[in-house]
Amino acid sequence: MSEEFITNDALATKKIGYEFAQKLTAGDIICLYGDLGSGKTMFTQGLAQGLGLSQRIISPTFIIVRKYNIGYSSSEAQAKSRSHPGEATTSIGSQKKDSIGRQGDLQNDKIICFYHIDLYRTETEKELEGIGLGEILQDKNAVVVIEWAEKLGALLPEKRIEIKLGQNADESHTLRIDSYGTSN
Ligand SMILES: Nc1ncnc2c1ncn2[C@@H]1O[C@H](COP(=O)(O)OP(=O)(O)OP(=O)(O)O)[C@@H](O)[C@H]1O
Ligand SMILES: [Mg+2]
Repeated sequence: MSEEFITNDALATKKIGYEFAQKLTAGDIICLYGDLGSGKTMFTQGLAQGLGLSQRIISPTFIIVRKYNIGYSSSEAQAKSRSHPGEATTSIGSQKKDSIGRQGDLQNDKIICFYHIDLYRTETEKELEGIGLGEILQDKNAVVVIEWAEKLGALLPEKRIEIKLGQNADESHTLRIDSYGTSN
């Protein structure tokens, strides 16, 4: 898969994120690249909405990892959530609640949670292990979005979707989507 989009405002970038989310399955890892202000968080906000999260996604810059539970009631989500240092967990009801997430019915193709990660302020791979990133990247029930994915270093998964964002001279923004580690 390789696609390119040009957007003229933030809403258009969000919409691409929303539509992109419809194609995602559990275990997908989305690596975002692009300068400050290129639209990574805007795209992620649309993606989160597209996954059925009704709450506005805020940039996790200072917390590094934000985890959002999809499809569980709050009490189930809290009982199931793991905590990592520097991780905030938000439990949110989902529009997809009926179709996914019944306890004892975990399947690989069900998206149980969404991780929004921002590595801008991280400096070492050891630090990434400290926030539990190795484990998060292996969570087959999650969709993971990583801003500043160039910081992943050796943790960069072979199977991933890369999205490169950039601002053009005319103020429009470009998004390029490429899949790696899959045949399509
Ligand atoms: N076409 C567009 N697509 C996305 N954002 C746009 C567009 N046009 C203008 N903007 C503005 O650019 C900014 C993009 O900010 P955003 O937080 O998404 O960037 P970011 O890549 O996440 O930056 P950071 O690296 O600081 O996290 C927003 O203020 C948004 O309103
Ligand atoms: Mg951002």
